[in-house]
Amino acid sequence: MSNTIKTDANKLTDTRSMPQQRNALEHNPNQLALTEIVNFDRIINVNTERVWENVLDWEHLAWLHDTSFDYNELDAAGEWGWRVWSDSAHKNHIELCVNRDQSTYVARSYLAGEQISEIWTTITANNGDTSINVSINAPNIDIKKLPKLSAIYLNLYTQLWDEDEQMMIRRQAKLSDRSHGPDSINLGALDALEAEKIVKLGRHEWQIRKSDKGIEVYAANCPHLLGPLGQNTDNQVVCPWHGYRFDIISGKCVFPEHANCRLPQPPTVAIIEGQASLSLVV
Ligand code: FES
Ligand SMILES: [Fe+2]
Repeated sequence: MSNTIKTDANKLTDTRSMPQQRNALEHNPNQLALTEIVNFDRIINVNTERVWENVLDWEHLAWLHDTSFDYNELDAAGEWGWRVWSDSAHKNHIELCVNRDQSTYVARSYLAGEQISEIWTTITANNGDTSINVSINAPNIDIKKLPKLSAIYLNLYTQLWDEDEQMMIRRQAKLSDRSHGPDSINLGALDALEAEKIVKLGRHEWQIRKSDKGIEVYAANCPHLLGPLGQNTDNQVVCPWHGYRFDIISGKCVFPEHANCRLPQPPTVAIIEGQASLSLVV
């Protein structure tokens, strides 16, 4: 599997880009023999702002949903939605188009130029949460296989929405957290310090990792969209939401190229007579 994000900055800002699919917001514009495979309703425990943000977020496909997607490379994006290549040979693609007025969007997948699915999703505010209705359609379905296909697609889209919902809930919680930690903190005896710990110091949460080399401290939350930063390997940490990779020494984002975020400067670590403490750099 290659979790890939590729793009160039022009494609992110090119407002002239358009859906490739003509009459993209019509049902079945290709006049296919479409059958509805499954239709389901669900409540997502975040507001519609988070859900729309997620809909337009093409970058997470091959990272957050790495068991369902292998590859995503941006072809075009704009107010209308986005189109990504789903293979490195540029034979297959997914195009998603939004209709904000009708609170709906449609995603169509193509294999070698041939449309293989058309999924309509409607988004409705529901007391601070979001109700969604999802209608999954595909052409040339053998009706005998419909029950089996329904179960497969329902499972798949339940998993995708579960993964999305977890990401959105965490992001919302981090955005809502206005708390401010102290400027310094005494971690106690170095010998007694756990191998991994998260503390809040100033505005940020920091992960503290104890190893043979000493104590490492770096941001716990990804500066891109607040995903959980993982373990340091060769002085780099990778975020599982969109695969952004950061150098923990310089704070620089080293992947992808178009990223314009960096890690905040970590607190200084002092170890005096076996007692560890952290202080914000002012
Ligand atoms: S939140 Fe997007 S890469 Fe971390
Ligand atoms: Fe998703």
